[in-house]
Amino acid sequence: MPPVSVEAWAKVNLYLHVTGKRPDGYHLLDSLVVFAGIGDTLRVEAADDLSLSVDGPTAALLDGMGGNIVLDAAQALARAAQIPALARIHLTKRLPVAAGIGGGSADAAATLLALSRLWGVTLPPAQLHALALALGADVPVCLRRRPTRMGGIGDTLAEVPPLPAAWLVLVNPRIGLSTPAVFKARQGCFSAPQPLESSPADAEQLAAMLAHRGNDLTDAAISLVPDIAEVLQMLQTTPECLLARMSGSGATCFGLFAGQAQADAAAAAIAAVHGQWWCKSAPLLSAS
Ligand code: C5P
Repeated sequence: MPPVSVEAWAKVNLYLHVTGKRPDGYHLLDSLVVFAGIGDTLRVEAADDLSLSVDGPTAALLDGMGGNIVLDAAQALARAAQIPALARIHLTKRLPVAAGIGGGSADAAATLLALSRLWGVTLPPAQLHALALALGADVPVCLRRRPTRMGGIGDTLAEVPPLPAAWLVLVNPRIGLSTPAVFKARQGCFSAPQPLESSPADAEQLAAMLAHRGNDLTDAAISLVPDIAEVLQMLQTTPECLLARMSGSGATCFGLFAGQAQADAAAAAIAAVHGQWWCKSAPLLSAS
């Protein structure tokens, strides 16, 4: 079997509302999740044992973070398929970690997809979904790799009307943020889930649709990492930026742009002022 490569695209929550809390402490969400055309790369090949090597611009951020979710995903898939977990896995890490754009979740989902192909395993969809959910609340949506309305704790996934072509500028102040800490710091009441209106025709209409939706974790994240407020301010005041929001539990924020020229110019302008920030432009992926 030849090696298999899968891109682990960055996950972006265009809006994220917290609608409740379960007795076990997990929060109920209502979120429009999309993927940006920038991510980590997962490559797997046949081997006599299970190993993971990592390189790439943000690989050093994984040091000292304990067990890697990629190996957890490989072992969980092998257990479910009742086969030995044998593969050489290589991860090229480009996304910041603990950053609200699903780096670890996307890597885990890419591992499940790549190893299913390498090992010739086809789990029933419900079993694969449950296995992904056990790895992390964002892993099921990362398996879908296309715009999705996410509910429950991340386990209720629904199709959304087609989204228009658009570009994103992702900006992270290079400060990691713990998801449980952000949920714990959240204050205020719960939002009501809002159905999505009809399909927006272009990026401007998408921004208008999102204008009255936000990210309910923003204030909590800013209370832990005040730089997020500066990132949002910088994006909001950048020419041609249609909308600026935080993704997930932060600290990565995104700006929405109509096209590549506007997004590239914005990313260059932000990088010129804040060279220490991680700042990338990427297309919004409308399909997997
Ligand atoms: O499932 P995952 O490991 O990604 O979640 C990390 C932590 O984030 C959970 O232990 C929980 O504290 C918090 N979380 C939450 N509600 C969600 C997702 C995550 O409270 N829907």
